[in-house]
Amino acid sequence: MDKKVDWKVDRKAPSPLPRLAYLDGRVVPYREASFGLLTHALNYGTGLFAGLRGYWNAEEDQLFVFRPEDHFRRFCESARLLRMELGVTPADLTAGLLELLRAEGYRENCYIRPLAFYGDESIGVRLHGLTPVVGMAAVRFGSYLGKEDGVHVAVSSWTRVSDNVIPARGKFAGSYVNSALAKTDAVLAGFDEALLLNDHGHVCEGSVENVFMLRHGVVVTPPVTDDVLEGFTRATVIQLLREDMGHTVVERSIDRTELYLADEVFLTGTGAEISPVTRADHRAIGDGRIGPIAAELRARYMETVSGRVARHRAWCRPVYAVTREREPMASGVAAVSERSVGST
Ligand SMILES: Cc1ncc(COP(=O)(O)O)c(C=O)c1O
Repeated sequence: MDKKVDWKVDRKAPSPLPRLAYLDGRVVPYREASFGLLTHALNYGTGLFAGLRGYWNAEEDQLFVFRPEDHFRRFCESARLLRMELGVTPADLTAGLLELLRAEGYRENCYIRPLAFYGDESIGVRLHGLTPVVGMAAVRFGSYLGKEDGVHVAVSSWTRVSDNVIPARGKFAGSYVNSALAKTDAVLAGFDEALLLNDHGHVCEGSVENVFMLRHGVVVTPPVTDDVLEGFTRATVIQLLREDMGHTVVERSIDRTELYLADEVFLTGTGAEISPVTRADHRAIGDGRIGPIAAELRARYMETVSGRVARHRAWCRPVYAVTREREPMASGVAAVSERSVGST
């Protein structure tokens, strides 16, 4: 594995507004994607979103977007839960995203925010009789939690929204008030991140991350029926742990005190990537240092998302056109002899 990959990106680096946005099928100046005070979603939270990352691979002169069709499939499912008729497919949205990124011309790591929302400027709480707007914007982006040497989590006093309240399976704008309450209380109390329990008292997820623990040699993560977002980093990590690293991964409910007794804990998410947890509620996890599985997984994940693992190349969608065929190297890492061109 290439050890040169650097995930220690300065989280304080300025993230200026994008030049452009995608709006209902067109790339427009970012400022054109502006909406009025009475916009339904702004008042009632009737929107949904996705978060994707683009990884710059300098050897290949290429920007790779990680699992875009999967993210847009979940996006369309969230839309269905909000009774939204988007009139676009995951493939259309992927094409729009690639067009936007080429127009922006990013040649560095970036974060992409697709958003669908009821854009009517109209009073009245409902989901019917409204018209959706679909937009996307992309910004330069580094580390999300900015704690590469281990995260200290607080078990939150806020309970995760449940399936019969606001389904956590949908990535709804309004439900992120739940995450924001937990996150800010945790940060103001001196922690890095919040971990929420569901209304059965089981460990659920971080404010924007799924959670895994290692206990008695088995990697455990809550099932998707425990009020968690069905995260793609979660799915990716389960596959990497099982197939690439040979670990047993079990999906079952986790008690709070199991977390305190775990040998390793880590958070996963598009933004947070793989973030090892070294303390929970002032208790050391394991010996209080990043564990070997989390460390290896983080390295493997960063190689995977940046297109450097041949067997997982299909997850990485190149933004810029490629001039020659790629040859997988014997090591399993994709060859980088070809060059890509600026835009198509
Ligand atoms: C509440 C919540 N859980 C988990 C995740 C991780 O999901 P993914 O890995 O698809 O980014 C996110 C990501 O935004 C999230 O908001």
